[in-house]
Amino acid sequence: MNGGGENGRADVPVVAIDGPSGSGKGTVAALVAERLGWALLDSGALYRIVAAVALERNMDLTDGAALAAMAAGLEIRFEDERVRVDGRDLTETIRTEPVSRASSQVAVLIPVREAILDLQRSMRQPPGLVADGRDMGTVVFADAPLKIFLDASTRVRAERRYNQLKNKGLDVNFRALLANLEERDARDRDRAVSPLVPAPDALIIDSTDLTIEEVLEKVLSEVESRQLN
Ligand code: C5P
Repeated sequence: MNGGGENGRADVPVVAIDGPSGSGKGTVAALVAERLGWALLDSGALYRIVAAVALERNMDLTDGAALAAMAAGLEIRFEDERVRVDGRDLTETIRTEPVSRASSQVAVLIPVREAILDLQRSMRQPPGLVADGRDMGTVVFADAPLKIFLDASTRVRAERRYNQLKNKGLDVNFRALLANLEERDARDRDRAVSPLVPAPDALIIDSTDLTIEEVLEKVLSEVESRQLN
C-alpha cells in the first residue's frame, strides 16, 4: 500500500477519535482537523477501499493473506475530499452498504490490519493529526495525547447515517440500514483483534443529545487545555 514515507513521528500530537458508525466521529474529526490546520486520517476509508476492491475482484473475504497482498499493492490518494485508488475515483463506491458490510468483514483479519498499519502511522506529520476509526487510541496511536470515544444510541446513529446517504442522493432503506449497522457494530465490538472499545484513558462523549457543534467545542476545549496546538 503506497502513500506513506517514514513511519510517523512520535513527537507530533494526535487527536484519536474512535467510536461506532454514525456516532459523528467522521464529521467531528474533519472539523477538528480543519480548525487546527492538522492532517486528517479517515482510517475506515482504508478498510472500505480494501473491501471495495475485494468485491470488485470477487475475492474471498476471509482470505487474510490474499487481501493483505492486494492491499499492499494499491496506490491510495486522498485529495480534495476524493478517494483515488490506482488512479480511479472510488469516493462514492466505498460508501455503499455492501462495501460497509464487507469492510467490517475484512477488518477482522490480522494480515489486513497489519498491511495498513504503516500507512496510517506515516500520516503522523507536523503540525498534528486527527485520526478517526475504531482502534486509533488503543492500537494505531496508543500514545496519542488526546483520545476521544464518541458514542450515541443505535437509533440516532442509524438515523444520522440514513440522512447522510439520502443527502448524497443514494437510495436507502432504513430498516436494512439499521440491521446492517447493528451487525457491523457487533462484529467490530466482538472481534478478537483491535475490537471497538474505549482506551482506558479515553474521554467518553455520548453525542445522542448533542449537536456536532457541541461535540466539536468539547474536543477543541480538550485540545486547548492540554496545550496540544
Ligand atoms: O468508520 P467506517 O464506518 O468508515 O469504517 C468501516 C469499517 O472499517 C468499520 O465497520 C470497521 O469494521 C472497520 N474499521 C476498523 N478499524 C478502524 C476503522 C474502521 O476496523 N480504525
